[in-house]
Amino acid sequence: MDSREEGQIMAAANYYSKDFEWDQLRQEIEKDSCFAHHLLPFPNQNTQNQETHLSSLCSQQEDSEAWNKFHTRHSTGKFFKERRYLLKEFPELASCKECSTVLEVGCGNGSTALPILRGNTSISLYACDCSKEALERAKENIEAANINLAKERFSTFQCDFSASGFPNWLICTSCRESFFQKQNMCFTDARSCSKQDFPDPPISAKNNSCIGGVDFVTLIFTLSAVPLHRMSRAITECFSVLKPGGLLLFRDYGLYDMTMLRFEPEQRVGYREYMRSDGTRSYFFCLDNVRDLFCGTGFSELELEYCCVQSVNRRNGKIMRRVWIHGKFQKPHVHLG
Ligand SMILES: C[S@@+](CC[C@H](N)C(=O)[O-])C[C@H]1O[C@@H](n2cnc3c(N)ncnc32)[C@H](O)[C@@H]1O
Repeated sequence: MDSREEGQIMAAANYYSKDFEWDQLRQEIEKDSCFAHHLLPFPNQNTQNQETHLSSLCSQQEDSEAWNKFHTRHSTGKFFKERRYLLKEFPELASCKECSTVLEVGCGNGSTALPILRGNTSISLYACDCSKEALERAKENIEAANINLAKERFSTFQCDFSASGFPNWLICTSCRESFFQKQNMCFTDARSCSKQDFPDPPISAKNNSCIGGVDFVTLIFTLSAVPLHRMSRAITECFSVLKPGGLLLFRDYGLYDMTMLRFEPEQRVGYREYMRSDGTRSYFFCLDNVRDLFCGTGFSELELEYCCVQSVNRRNGKIMRRVWIHGKFQKPHVHLG
Protein backbone atom coordinates (compact mmCIF):
# COMPACT_ATOMS: atom_id res chain seq x y z
CA MET A 1 0.00 0.00 0.00
CA ASP A 2 1.27 3.43 -0.86
CA SER A 3 -0.20 5.67 1.78
CA ARG A 4 3.20 6.80 3.08
CA GLU A 5 4.07 7.99 -0.40
CA GLU A 6 0.63 9.48 -0.71
CA GLY A 7 1.06 11.33 2.57
CA GLN A 8 4.32 12.84 1.36
CA ILE A 9 2.75 13.99 -1.87
CA MET A 10 -0.24 15.45 -0.12
CA ALA A 11 1.88 17.31 2.40
CA ALA A 12 3.54 19.15 -0.46
CA ALA A 13 0.60 19.48 -2.84
CA ASN A 14 -1.86 22.29 -2.82
CA TYR A 15 -5.06 20.35 -2.37
CA TYR A 16 -7.11 22.21 -4.90
CA SER A 17 -4.41 22.34 -7.55
CA LYS A 18 -5.20 20.88 -10.93
CA ASP A 19 -1.76 20.04 -12.24
CA PHE A 20 -3.23 18.35 -15.31
CA GLU A 21 -6.60 17.81 -16.93
CA TRP A 22 -8.16 14.46 -16.15
CA ASP A 23 -9.60 14.18 -19.66
CA GLN A 24 -6.16 14.54 -21.17
CA LEU A 25 -4.85 11.75 -18.94
CA ARG A 26 -7.85 9.58 -19.95
CA GLN A 27 -7.11 10.06 -23.64
CA GLU A 28 -3.44 9.16 -23.14
CA ILE A 29 -4.22 6.02 -21.15
CA GLU A 30 -6.94 4.84 -23.51
CA LYS A 31 -4.59 5.16 -26.51
CA ASP A 32 -1.69 3.34 -24.86
CA SER A 33 -1.70 -0.40 -25.53
CA CYS A 34 0.30 -1.06 -22.32
CA PHE A 35 -2.84 -0.22 -20.37
CA ALA A 36 -5.29 -2.12 -22.57
CA HIS A 37 -6.00 -4.76 -19.90
CA HIS A 38 -7.41 -2.11 -17.55
CA LEU A 39 -10.06 -1.16 -20.10
CA LEU A 40 -11.43 -4.56 -21.00
CA PRO A 41 -14.86 -5.61 -19.77
CA PHE A 42 -14.52 -8.04 -16.90
CA PRO A 43 -15.52 -11.62 -17.66
CA ASN A 44 -18.25 -13.10 -15.43
CA GLN A 45 -18.89 -9.78 -13.72
CA ASN A 46 -22.64 -10.52 -13.55
CA THR A 47 -22.27 -13.96 -12.08
CA GLN A 48 -19.77 -12.56 -9.61
CA ASN A 49 -22.28 -9.94 -8.50
CA GLN A 50 -24.95 -12.54 -7.91
CA GLU A 51 -22.99 -14.28 -5.20
CA THR A 52 -24.89 -16.44 -2.78
CA HIS A 53 -25.52 -15.41 0.82
CA LEU A 54 -22.91 -17.91 2.00
CA SER A 55 -20.19 -16.86 -0.46
CA SER A 56 -20.96 -13.24 0.38
CA LEU A 57 -20.46 -13.94 4.09
CA CYS A 58 -17.13 -15.68 3.39
CA SER A 59 -15.91 -12.86 1.20
CA GLN A 60 -16.89 -10.24 3.83
CA GLN A 61 -14.90 -12.14 6.43
CA GLU A 62 -11.94 -12.46 4.09
CA ASP A 63 -12.02 -8.74 3.30
CA SER A 64 -12.06 -7.78 6.98
CA GLU A 65 -9.35 -10.31 7.80
CA ALA A 66 -7.13 -8.92 5.01
CA TRP A 67 -7.49 -5.40 6.46
CA ASN A 68 -6.82 -6.67 9.95
CA LYS A 69 -3.58 -8.30 8.77
CA PHE A 70 -2.70 -5.11 6.90
CA HIS A 71 -3.04 -3.06 10.09
CA THR A 72 -1.08 -5.64 12.09
CA ARG A 73 1.78 -5.46 9.59
CA HIS A 74 1.76 -1.66 9.58
CA SER A 75 1.41 -1.19 13.28
CA THR A 76 4.36 1.17 13.75
CA GLY A 77 3.86 4.87 14.29
CA LYS A 78 5.93 5.49 11.15
CA PHE A 79 3.11 4.36 8.92
CA PHE A 80 0.67 6.84 10.43
CA LYS A 81 0.20 9.98 8.33
CA GLU A 82 -2.20 12.64 9.52
CA ARG A 83 -4.31 14.08 6.69
CA ARG A 84 -3.45 17.68 7.42
CA TYR A 85 -5.25 18.97 4.33
CA LEU A 86 -8.62 17.68 5.47
CA LEU A 87 -10.08 20.81 7.07
CA LYS A 88 -9.00 22.90 4.08
CA GLU A 89 -10.73 20.46 1.83
CA PHE A 90 -13.86 20.31 3.97
CA PRO A 91 -14.02 23.66 5.81
CA GLU A 92 -17.48 22.78 7.22
CA LEU A 93 -15.67 20.58 9.71
CA ALA A 94 -14.08 23.69 11.17
CA SER A 95 -17.01 26.09 10.89
CA CYS A 96 -19.91 23.83 11.95
CA LYS A 97 -22.15 24.47 14.95
CA GLU A 98 -20.91 23.69 18.47
CA CYS A 99 -21.00 20.06 19.53
CA SER A 100 -21.44 18.65 16.03
CA THR A 101 -20.96 14.93 15.59
CA VAL A 102 -18.89 13.10 13.00
CA LEU A 103 -18.87 9.45 12.03
CA GLU A 104 -15.54 8.49 10.40
CA VAL A 105 -16.20 5.27 8.51
CA GLY A 106 -13.21 2.96 8.01
CA CYS A 107 -11.03 5.05 10.30
CA GLY A 108 -7.84 3.00 9.86
CA ASN A 109 -5.15 4.24 12.22
CA GLY A 110 -6.83 7.62 12.72
CA SER A 111 -5.32 9.68 9.87
CA THR A 112 -8.63 11.46 9.28
CA ALA A 113 -9.97 11.41 12.84
CA LEU A 114 -6.93 13.22 14.24
CA PRO A 115 -7.02 16.44 12.16
CA ILE A 116 -10.77 16.75 12.77
CA LEU A 117 -10.48 16.39 16.55
CA ARG A 118 -7.50 18.73 16.59
CA GLY A 119 -9.02 21.29 14.22
CA ASN A 120 -12.37 21.64 15.96
CA THR A 121 -12.32 21.14 19.71
CA SER A 122 -16.12 21.04 20.05
CA ILE A 123 -16.65 18.10 17.69
CA SER A 124 -17.36 14.58 18.94
CA LEU A 125 -16.12 11.87 16.66
CA TYR A 126 -17.23 8.25 16.40
CA ALA A 127 -14.82 6.10 14.42
CA CYS A 128 -15.53 2.64 13.11
CA ASP A 129 -13.55 0.07 11.18
CA CYS A 130 -13.99 -3.59 10.25
CA SER A 131 -10.52 -4.23 11.70
CA LYS A 132 -9.97 -4.49 15.46
CA GLU A 133 -6.29 -3.86 14.98
CA ALA A 134 -7.03 -0.59 13.14
CA LEU A 135 -9.17 0.61 16.03
CA GLU A 136 -6.37 -0.11 18.51
CA ARG A 137 -3.90 1.88 16.37
CA ALA A 138 -6.38 4.76 16.03
CA LYS A 139 -6.86 4.92 19.82
CA GLU A 140 -3.10 4.91 20.40
CA ASN A 141 -2.49 7.64 17.82
CA ILE A 142 -5.23 9.90 19.16
CA GLU A 143 -4.03 9.36 22.74
CA ALA A 144 -0.44 10.16 21.75
CA ALA A 145 -1.56 13.40 20.07
CA ASN A 146 -2.63 14.82 23.42
CA ILE A 147 -5.77 16.49 22.12
CA ASN A 148 -8.07 18.50 24.31
CA LEU A 149 -10.73 16.25 25.92
CA ALA A 150 -10.00 13.43 23.45
CA LYS A 151 -11.30 10.81 25.87
CA GLU A 152 -14.72 12.43 25.98
CA ARG A 153 -14.84 13.36 22.30
CA PHE A 154 -13.49 10.25 20.59
CA SER A 155 -14.75 6.70 20.61
CA THR A 156 -14.48 3.66 18.40
CA PHE A 157 -16.54 0.63 17.50
CA GLN A 158 -15.98 -2.30 15.19
CA CYS A 159 -18.32 -2.80 12.27
CA ASP A 160 -18.42 -3.74 8.60
CA PHE A 161 -20.78 -1.06 7.37
CA SER A 162 -21.28 -2.75 4.01
CA ALA A 163 -22.57 -5.93 5.61
CA SER A 164 -24.14 -5.44 9.03
CA GLY A 165 -24.77 -1.71 8.77
CA PHE A 166 -24.39 0.69 11.72
CA PRO A 167 -25.53 -0.04 15.25
CA ASN A 168 -28.91 1.17 16.43
CA TRP A 169 -27.49 3.47 19.12
CA LEU A 170 -26.24 5.75 16.31
CA ILE A 171 -29.76 6.03 14.98
CA CYS A 172 -32.60 3.80 16.05
CA THR A 173 -35.21 2.39 13.74
CA SER A 174 -37.85 4.83 14.96
CA CYS A 175 -35.64 7.89 14.26
CA ARG A 176 -34.77 6.51 10.82
CA GLU A 177 -38.45 5.98 10.07
CA SER A 178 -39.49 9.38 11.31
CA PHE A 179 -36.88 11.13 9.12
CA PHE A 180 -38.09 9.17 6.15
CA GLN A 181 -41.77 9.80 6.88
CA LYS A 182 -41.20 13.52 7.29
CA GLN A 183 -39.51 13.55 3.93
CA ASN A 184 -42.48 11.70 2.44
CA MET A 185 -40.16 8.92 1.53
CA CYS A 186 -40.85 5.28 1.88
CA PHE A 187 -38.79 3.54 4.53
CA THR A 188 -37.60 0.41 2.84
CA ASP A 189 -34.74 -0.63 5.07
CA ALA A 190 -35.02 -4.36 5.43
CA ARG A 191 -32.96 -4.46 8.61
CA SER A 192 -34.45 -6.03 11.65
CA CYS A 193 -35.40 -3.69 14.51
CA SER A 194 -33.84 -5.97 17.08
CA LYS A 195 -30.78 -4.78 19.00
CA GLN A 196 -27.76 -5.99 17.12
CA ASP A 197 -24.63 -7.55 18.39
CA PHE A 198 -22.54 -4.41 18.76
CA PRO A 199 -20.27 -3.32 21.57
CA ASP A 200 -21.48 -0.84 24.16
CA PRO A 201 -22.29 2.53 22.71
CA PRO A 202 -19.66 5.17 23.35
CA ILE A 203 -19.62 8.81 24.56
CA SER A 204 -23.09 10.25 25.11
CA ALA A 205 -24.89 7.08 24.20
CA LYS A 206 -23.87 5.41 27.49
CA ASN A 207 -27.45 4.52 28.42
CA ASN A 208 -27.82 2.65 25.15
CA SER A 209 -30.25 5.23 23.84
CA CYS A 210 -30.05 6.46 20.31
CA ILE A 211 -27.95 9.59 19.67
CA GLY A 212 -30.27 10.61 16.81
CA GLY A 213 -27.79 10.40 13.95
CA VAL A 214 -24.70 12.42 13.10
CA ASP A 215 -24.03 15.76 11.37
CA PHE A 216 -21.21 14.46 9.18
CA VAL A 217 -20.11 11.15 7.76
CA THR A 218 -16.55 11.00 6.44
CA LEU A 219 -15.69 8.33 3.86
CA ILE A 220 -12.02 8.92 3.17
CA PHE A 221 -10.36 6.19 1.08
CA THR A 222 -12.78 3.64 2.51
CA LEU A 223 -15.47 3.07 -0.12
CA SER A 224 -12.84 1.90 -2.64
CA ALA A 225 -12.07 -0.98 -0.26
CA VAL A 226 -15.67 -2.24 -0.43
CA PRO A 227 -16.60 -4.64 -3.28
CA LEU A 228 -18.57 -2.80 -5.96
CA HIS A 229 -21.73 -4.86 -5.49
CA ARG A 230 -21.89 -3.92 -1.79
CA MET A 231 -21.27 -0.18 -2.26
CA SER A 232 -24.86 0.84 -2.77
CA ARG A 233 -25.93 -0.84 0.49
CA ALA A 234 -22.96 0.76 2.26
CA ILE A 235 -23.95 4.24 1.07
CA THR A 236 -27.58 3.68 2.05
CA GLU A 237 -26.32 2.99 5.57
CA CYS A 238 -24.36 6.25 5.56
CA PHE A 239 -27.44 8.09 4.33
CA SER A 240 -29.67 6.65 7.04
CA VAL A 241 -27.30 7.53 9.88
CA LEU A 242 -27.06 11.22 8.90
CA LYS A 243 -29.40 13.85 10.30
CA PRO A 244 -31.47 15.66 7.66
CA GLY A 245 -29.24 18.35 6.14
CA GLY A 246 -26.14 16.40 7.23
CA LEU A 247 -23.11 16.12 4.96
CA LEU A 248 -21.22 13.17 3.60
CA LEU A 249 -17.61 14.08 2.88
CA PHE A 250 -15.95 11.84 0.33
CA ARG A 251 -12.44 11.39 -0.95
CA ASP A 252 -11.13 8.34 -2.75
CA TYR A 253 -9.12 6.95 -5.64
CA GLY A 254 -9.99 8.27 -9.11
CA LEU A 255 -9.95 6.42 -12.40
CA TYR A 256 -6.46 6.20 -13.95
CA ASP A 257 -4.68 7.10 -10.73
CA MET A 258 -1.06 5.98 -10.90
CA THR A 259 -1.73 3.17 -8.42
CA MET A 260 -4.44 1.69 -10.68
CA LEU A 261 -2.12 1.56 -13.65
CA ARG A 262 0.44 -0.40 -11.65
CA PHE A 263 -1.89 -3.38 -11.09
CA GLU A 264 -1.13 -6.49 -13.13
CA PRO A 265 -3.87 -8.10 -15.26
CA GLU A 266 -4.21 -11.00 -12.81
CA GLN A 267 -4.95 -8.60 -9.97
CA ARG A 268 -8.20 -7.49 -11.59
CA VAL A 269 -11.20 -8.83 -9.71
CA GLY A 270 -13.82 -6.77 -11.55
CA TYR A 271 -14.17 -3.82 -13.89
CA ARG A 272 -11.94 -1.10 -12.35
CA GLU A 273 -11.67 -3.33 -9.25
CA TYR A 274 -8.37 -4.83 -8.08
CA MET A 275 -7.02 -6.96 -5.28
CA ARG A 276 -3.57 -6.30 -3.82
CA SER A 277 -1.29 -9.21 -3.01
CA ASP A 278 -2.27 -8.85 0.67
CA GLY A 279 -5.98 -9.43 -0.12
CA THR A 280 -7.15 -5.82 0.32
CA ARG A 281 -9.25 -4.39 -2.49
CA SER A 282 -9.27 -1.14 -4.37
CA TYR A 283 -11.82 0.29 -6.76
CA PHE A 284 -11.11 3.35 -8.93
CA PHE A 285 -14.02 5.76 -9.36
CA CYS A 286 -15.05 8.01 -12.22
CA LEU A 287 -17.32 10.97 -11.48
CA ASP A 288 -20.40 9.29 -12.97
CA ASN A 289 -19.94 6.21 -10.76
CA VAL A 290 -19.82 8.33 -7.66
CA ARG A 291 -22.76 10.50 -8.76
CA ASP A 292 -24.92 7.46 -9.54
CA LEU A 293 -24.06 5.76 -6.26
CA PHE A 294 -24.73 8.75 -4.00
CA CYS A 295 -27.58 10.47 -5.84
CA GLY A 296 -29.23 7.09 -6.40
CA THR A 297 -29.39 6.72 -2.62
CA GLY A 298 -31.09 10.09 -2.10
CA PHE A 299 -28.15 12.44 -1.56
CA SER A 300 -27.93 15.84 -3.27
CA GLU A 301 -24.60 16.58 -4.93
CA LEU A 302 -22.87 19.73 -3.63
CA GLU A 303 -19.36 19.22 -4.98
CA LEU A 304 -17.82 16.54 -7.15
CA GLU A 305 -14.57 16.78 -9.04
CA TYR A 306 -11.31 15.11 -9.92
CA CYS A 307 -8.27 16.27 -8.09
CA CYS A 308 -5.21 15.77 -10.29
CA VAL A 309 -1.82 16.24 -8.68
CA GLN A 310 1.51 15.71 -10.38
CA SER A 311 4.73 15.32 -8.46
CA VAL A 312 8.18 13.86 -8.95
CA ASN A 313 9.49 10.91 -7.01
CA ARG A 314 12.65 12.24 -5.40
CA ARG A 315 14.32 8.83 -5.38
CA ASN A 316 13.98 7.90 -9.06
CA GLY A 317 12.88 11.15 -10.72
CA LYS A 318 9.72 9.53 -12.09
CA ILE A 319 6.62 11.64 -12.61
CA MET A 320 3.69 10.53 -10.50
CA ARG A 321 0.20 11.48 -11.61
CA ARG A 322 -2.28 11.03 -8.83
CA VAL A 323 -6.03 11.19 -9.33
CA TRP A 324 -8.40 11.49 -6.43
CA ILE A 325 -12.08 12.25 -6.26
CA HIS A 326 -13.40 14.96 -4.00
CA GLY A 327 -17.09 14.87 -3.24
CA LYS A 328 -19.53 16.54 -0.90
CA PHE A 329 -23.10 15.26 -0.65
CA GLN A 330 -26.04 16.36 1.46
CA LYS A 331 -28.96 14.46 2.91
CA PRO A 332 -32.03 16.57 2.07
CA HIS A 333 -33.53 18.74 4.82
CA VAL A 334 -36.87 17.72 6.26
CA HIS A 335 -39.68 19.77 4.76
CA LEU A 336 -42.56 19.97 7.20
CA GLY A 337 -46.17 20.44 6.15
C1 LIG B 1 -7.30 3.11 3.14
S1 LIG B 1 -7.87 2.94 4.77
C2 LIG B 1 -8.47 4.60 5.10
C3 LIG B 1 -8.41 4.94 6.55
C4 LIG B 1 -8.86 6.35 6.95
N1 LIG B 1 -10.21 6.64 6.55
C5 LIG B 1 -7.92 7.41 6.46
O1 LIG B 1 -8.37 8.48 6.12
O2 LIG B 1 -6.72 7.14 6.43
C6 LIG B 1 -9.40 2.05 4.57
C7 LIG B 1 -9.95 1.56 5.89
O3 LIG B 1 -11.26 1.05 5.71
C8 LIG B 1 -11.42 -0.12 6.50
N2 LIG B 1 -12.49 -0.90 5.86
C9 LIG B 1 -12.43 -1.57 4.69
N3 LIG B 1 -13.63 -2.13 4.42
C10 LIG B 1 -14.46 -1.80 5.45
C11 LIG B 1 -15.81 -2.09 5.75
N4 LIG B 1 -16.55 -2.82 4.92
N5 LIG B 1 -16.36 -1.62 6.91
C12 LIG B 1 -15.58 -0.86 7.75
N6 LIG B 1 -14.30 -0.57 7.52
C13 LIG B 1 -13.73 -1.01 6.38
C14 LIG B 1 -10.04 -0.77 6.48
O4 LIG B 1 -9.82 -1.61 7.59
C15 LIG B 1 -9.12 0.44 6.50
O5 LIG B 1 -8.77 0.79 7.81
